[in-house]
Amino acid sequence: MQQVIDLRSDTVTKPTGAMWQAMHKAPVGDDVFGEDPGLNKLEERVAALFGMEAGVFVPSGTMGNQIGLKVLTQPADEVVIDENAHIFNSEGAAGGLISGIQLRPLPGTRGILNAEQVASAIRSKNDWDPRTTVIALENTANMGGGTCYPVETIREIYKLARSNDLALHMDGARIWNAAVACGLDLKEYGRYCDTLSVCFSKGLGAPVGSMILGSSKLMKHARRYRKLLGGGMRQAGMLAAAADHALDEHIDRLADDHRRARLLAEALAESPFFSVNPDHVETNILLFRVRNGDTDHALNWFSQHGIAMIPFGPGIIRATFHLHISDKELDKTINTARNYTGS
Ligand SMILES: Cc1ncc(COP(=O)(O)O)c(C=O)c1O
Repeated sequence: MQQVIDLRSDTVTKPTGAMWQAMHKAPVGDDVFGEDPGLNKLEERVAALFGMEAGVFVPSGTMGNQIGLKVLTQPADEVVIDENAHIFNSEGAAGGLISGIQLRPLPGTRGILNAEQVASAIRSKNDWDPRTTVIALENTANMGGGTCYPVETIREIYKLARSNDLALHMDGARIWNAAVACGLDLKEYGRYCDTLSVCFSKGLGAPVGSMILGSSKLMKHARRYRKLLGGGMRQAGMLAAAADHALDEHIDRLADDHRRARLLAEALAESPFFSVNPDHVETNILLFRVRNGDTDHALNWFSQHGIAMIPFGPGIIRATFHLHISDKELDKTINTARNYTGS
């Protein structure tokens, strides 16, 4: 049977043979008792990679983000965020439920905010104003099309945060892609974040796992909230082994995903039926427009040729590159796009 070329998301990857082997050999212990040797090491390793004090392994990016917001806020606080952010659109309004916070969505440029607009959203201190306490940035910005925060912008927003006594949370589900695309050391991100949530289960190709990072003091609270949210796991060392393997083997190769996304964008830009600016493709996520708006027809065309993509708003389709997409799959996708004759 022909394998589907699955470009719906980078979350669809399955462990490679080498990753399964690493998982199979993992030593395990009860992590709620702090006794899983692999997880303890992974938390130290990832905190060191970002130059942060501590990390807490969590089952998902959503839990990482929500714990980050929980430890930085009090009920009735307000968090400034881009209107396309995952936290705002795809976490079931969990911030309201778990932390009692309000989100203040701003229209960024393809998911990226600038310091000026963030400054204008900081509330004054009247009794009737919500209290702005956190700025949340998503890097890379998924719904923005995998866009990266320029480090200067992060620095400016950080300075603004510090001068207004605000904290900075970064949703770094795909921070690895950002670091590779921008040629930056991961510490360049860690130094500006009070809390940073990262995922091993997206472009890095691990089956499960994320981490929330921050100061030792904040992470002590984070560990408690992880437990009360039901995220305390027991012998989860095999997940640490998968993440470790991904960190060793799957970071540098992200540049190939980025190159392939850009090549598909260039091919789509030549078609009269699609539109995309290849210069907007910075990492592994490609958003393109179907000129006549008929995404169903275009998705169906790709699907009939064994290629899965997903609709991503009116007239827009998302294609995401990852571990299981080689140049061969890319070539087939490009040819299929070139042969599209519209609806
Ligand atoms: C930017 C971003 N943040 C957070 C998440 C949440 O990750 P999870 O699905 O592991 O909860 C996702 C999921 O795709 C994401 O794209």
